[in-house]
Amino acid sequence: MSNPVYLALDVPTLDPAKVLLEKVKAHIGGVKLGLEFFCAHGAHGVHEIAHMGLPIFLDLKLHDIPNTVAGAMQAIHVLEPKIVTIHASGGRAMMEDAKAAAADGCKVVAVTMLTSMDESDMTATGIGGSAEDQVMRLAELAESAGLDGIVCSGQEVGKVHKQWKNGFFVVPGLRPAGSVIGDQKRVVTPRKARDDGASVLVIGRPISKAPDPAAAARAIEATL
Ligand code: C5P
Repeated sequence: MSNPVYLALDVPTLDPAKVLLEKVKAHIGGVKLGLEFFCAHGAHGVHEIAHMGLPIFLDLKLHDIPNTVAGAMQAIHVLEPKIVTIHASGGRAMMEDAKAAAADGCKVVAVTMLTSMDESDMTATGIGGSAEDQVMRLAELAESAGLDGIVCSGQEVGKVHKQWKNGFFVVPGLRPAGSVIGDQKRVVTPRKARDDGASVLVIGRPISKAPDPAAAARAIEATL
């Protein structure tokens, strides 16, 4: 089984990002590059990281009219990402067109509810009901639109996996037993998320901020 850990490379400058990746690359399965990295370093930065030999997850959270999102999906073919994120709240047509425009073998995964939003934020934007209902509703819509899976927390992945058996589930907010929790609120261990059906484990600071990042990545790998 390949290593499901994708390192969240949330580092503002390119050279330190490459140094960190060089240290840990034997113990992870891929690299997650977010919007901040992409805005700062663009296609050049993605190529630089891709040259280091690991699969790339572009966490761009695309959300626009279907034609524009499809165009963006086509424009990133050259970057050969293995996983790309879009927002499920962009609607069925946007998701269908994004998937149709993605390269073969690229997983298109939906963000349901941003974890920074609580129920009062939802009410303020006109969405009724609980956050969990909204996540499950958007997961169902993503599945019916032909997407590969969703991004969800370690606490939700078990429930979503039961509803969407062959879905591809990307899980951030993980903390190895005994590590610093930081600003994440609802954390589970990488092993628990994996056992509950996670396909990809997104891990950032427990590796990048560890005194010995390679040892931290190796220790996580050993628990899986
Ligand atoms: O450092 P840490 O392990 O908390 O990093 C988690 C990564 O996953 C970050 O890149 C963060 O932006 C992302 N993420 C998250 N929670 C979400 C969605 C994405 O932590 N709900």
